[in-house]
Amino acid sequence: MTQANAQPTRDILVTSALPYANGPIHLGHLLEYIQTDIWVRFQKMRGHNCHYVCADDAHGTAIMLRAEREGITPEALIERINREHQADFSDFHIRFDNYHSTHSEENRELSEYIYRQLKANGHIAVRSITQAYDPEKNMFLADRFIKGTCPKCKAEDQYGDNCEVCGATYTPAELINPRSAVSGATPVNRESEHYFFKLPEFVDFLATWTRSGTLQPQVANKLAEWLDAGLQEWDISRDAPYFGFEIPDAPGKYFYVWLDAPIGYLASFKHLCNRRDDLDFQHYWRPDSTAEVYHFIGKDIINFHALFWPSMLHSAGFRTPSAVWAHGFVTVNGKKMSKSRGTFIMARTYLDHLDPEYLRYYFAAKLTSNVDDMDLNLEDFTARVNSDLVGKVVNIASRTAGFVNKKFDGQLGEVTETEKLAIFIKAGEEIADHYEAREFGKAMRRIMELADIANQYVNDEQPWVVAKQAGEEARVQAICTNALNMFRLLMTYLAPVLPKTAAASQAFLATQFDWHNRSNLLENHRINAFTPLMQRVDMALVEKMLDASKEELPAATTSNPTEVNVEPIADEIDFTDFAKVDLRVARIAKAERVEGADKLLRLTLDIGNGERNVFAGIKSAYEPEQLEGRLTVMVANLKPRKMKFGLSEGMVLAAGPGGKDIFILSPDSGATPGMRVM
Ligand code: 2FM
Ligand code: ZN
Repeated sequence: MTQANAQPTRDILVTSALPYANGPIHLGHLLEYIQTDIWVRFQKMRGHNCHYVCADDAHGTAIMLRAEREGITPEALIERINREHQADFSDFHIRFDNYHSTHSEENRELSEYIYRQLKANGHIAVRSITQAYDPEKNMFLADRFIKGTCPKCKAEDQYGDNCEVCGATYTPAELINPRSAVSGATPVNRESEHYFFKLPEFVDFLATWTRSGTLQPQVANKLAEWLDAGLQEWDISRDAPYFGFEIPDAPGKYFYVWLDAPIGYLASFKHLCNRRDDLDFQHYWRPDSTAEVYHFIGKDIINFHALFWPSMLHSAGFRTPSAVWAHGFVTVNGKKMSKSRGTFIMARTYLDHLDPEYLRYYFAAKLTSNVDDMDLNLEDFTARVNSDLVGKVVNIASRTAGFVNKKFDGQLGEVTETEKLAIFIKAGEEIADHYEAREFGKAMRRIMELADIANQYVNDEQPWVVAKQAGEEARVQAICTNALNMFRLLMTYLAPVLPKTAAASQAFLATQFDWHNRSNLLENHRINAFTPLMQRVDMALVEKMLDASKEELPAATTSNPTEVNVEPIADEIDFTDFAKVDLRVARIAKAERVEGADKLLRLTLDIGNGERNVFAGIKSAYEPEQLEGRLTVMVANLKPRKMKFGLSEGMVLAAGPGGKDIFILSPDSGATPGMRVM
């Protein structure tokens, strides 16, 4: 039986939001890339021409300042981060057709082209605005780069647009004692000319576009509120110094990072088309295109993708996206990801401890098509992966493959459970509909129902009992053939989620998984030796990952380019808890590099009554030689912890955003090692 391809072949271009090139990929990012990758792999498996492109979002003040702090050029920084991002994605089996950068020639050309079109169509306005300026650093300051005392609750050290203590919003001019977060200087007001995109002229266009099935219902409702409230012109220029593209015919003025970021989708695709004879950029982007274009994004950047971006495309003579699909935020164990709890987990830290397919499956099992937040509950994660993937799916193969290999030299017999298998084959349509609709949770549930049927079948037939009965060889072979065909169908349906296990299963079954030919059962077919396809999740490794995450101190990892991370205050403790912490003055007797450790230095600390070996994540900020002989503060009664590089017997107190800016806390001179810090 060969199943006909039900749908004509579609041309589909898919994107995920472009991650900023100023920090590592973390679990919050991964939800989106995993969601998109699953959808794309599904479309490809169904035989469609589906292309998945992405890029680093490489421009803006935050990247410029970070490069400066590191003493390198922005180009060197974004190149290094690009390599790191691509390695993280690839190790999570996220398979882009192209991964580019917004700091590319394709993007410069397209950004200039689109800007010129907007201008020619009368959609650009130029006028002077007054803004805060750092007279020491000679740069304009976005609100997020101004700090001061909250005018309402008087909390110190608050950003220029809102107070993280009382939640008040205000303008930087209202801050008490404002200062530049870059240099500490007091900002002055200065005028400069800015370029604006006349968004209000697109209200009617947007009212139609946002209601034409392009957005999820919740999102479309939000957009309707914004449109009713009226739109403002959008400031698309930034003054030098800025890392980005200079605006044509406007020396010293640069495109705001959010102007050229979405154009990066076009640029990455163009870069792909330039290398592929079979791909035509125009076919996907001309106004009357029959191809489909989808953007997967987080709900925090809906305004950019559902207001500015379609309007820009429309004005510049390109087609608009077929749909923009937003997802919610990731929480871990029910709370916002937090460095102090160890739940701000970097992609690399996860990969150092756990199999990426666990996370792909867990996210898939919980994903819906709506914008609700997603909780990664680590106990539930462990239990669900172990019970569903290891306990149900892989188990079908591990319970039956041995008999086929040992007793029948790897040879499958005839299928005898055609009715049961027909249920499995038929379910493929329903599962495909769920994938198509981004209802991955529903797809996973249906697959697990089938896995239950398969396991029940093996339980009922008990091949291990039948195998001991004389003259029942054919029955054993048939039971295993039926079960392995069920397994094959389950793995076919899981392939978009578990590409590595699917590839290993294809090798084991000596076949290719093909959605359309899934009704061709494996009969009288030789399979290969079975090797375990997936290990159980070990909760101890999950704990280790959390410990390792506590040790990480990444620099900016926020989705806001101008935002400097402020860790939320941890849960309240009472005084008795605090009193348990024994803080001591310590002399750094020795500081050494640790072979193989990117972030750690090994410190030998003298606390008066002996020496302690402590690993501290301060390598990015200090040369070991700078530290020897200095006094610092340590937590002296922290239970020693076994780390990858040895035992750590305490913790040194340090503060700062990361990178070069980590400051070890030094006690006043005159302190002596061992002195208690109160
Ligand atoms: O929010 C972010 O992380 C942005 N870097 C996303 C950009 S998406 C697109 F517009 F480029
Ligand atoms: Zn306040």
